[in-house]
Amino acid sequence: MLDKERIPRHVAIIMDGNGRWATKHGVPRLAGHNAGMKAMKEIVKRSHELGVQHLTVYAFSTENWKRSAEEVSGIFGLLVTYVESELREISENNVRIRIMGDTDALPEKALKAVNKAINNTAGNTGLQFNIALNYGGREEIRRAAAELAEEAKAGRIDPDAITDEDISRRLFTGEDHAGCGDPDVIIRTSGEERLSNFLLWQCAYSEFVFVDDLWPDFTPERYEEALEIYQNRNRRYGGRTPEKKG
Ligand code: FPP
Repeated sequence: MLDKERIPRHVAIIMDGNGRWATKHGVPRLAGHNAGMKAMKEIVKRSHELGVQHLTVYAFSTENWKRSAEEVSGIFGLLVTYVESELREISENNVRIRIMGDTDALPEKALKAVNKAINNTAGNTGLQFNIALNYGGREEIRRAAAELAEEAKAGRIDPDAITDEDISRRLFTGEDHAGCGDPDVIIRTSGEERLSNFLLWQCAYSEFVFVDDLWPDFTPERYEEALEIYQNRNRRYGGRTPEKKG
């Protein structure tokens, strides 16, 4: 049973397997992403109900531009649809949407939808739903390094005095951006067991849970099971409680 008293503060998810789900069902890849979007909606809802403070999903990586133009525009189209159809309910549930990644490169319509979602939910104090869009872990570390180098060059910071916190703050998860900090647990669906450039700095103390379900098949029940695996692992190895700084 999931212990409702020990819900992780920050859950991050690599939503993998939409393409394979589509192949399995003999439908176009975009239909797989559409099913993935429905699954995502349910996971947001359950996260809100469970009292998760931060849910971060990997929706589009810096490498995903390599996919066909049709698939890329289809994914961003789904994002626009998601914002249009869900924003009211999201807001009513006190969910705050934030985006992690380089949004300058997003198609104009997607950028507009994203900004609307950010602005309309800015005052909400419940679940914070962080969508990683055009996100890359190495790229965010590179950006933070470049920023620090600029500040050192300008004499505003002493290179010998740079702390972990100085780096964390400048990442998309840091206080200068989404402000969600490090994830307690990273869940990846579809049986793949790798990070794929997701939260490379932030995963230093995260637990990893890999499940075989393809993302569209990942129900709120399966989600709770994954969180239970996380809770059991924490109990077994101890030394760090879910509430501790993430
Ligand atoms: C991974 O499956 C999924 C993606 C790259 C896109 C994720 C998108 C959604 C869940 C829906 C859209 C929602 C938003 C907010 C944009 P894959 O295509 O890599 O699957 P495969 O490995 O089986 O090919």
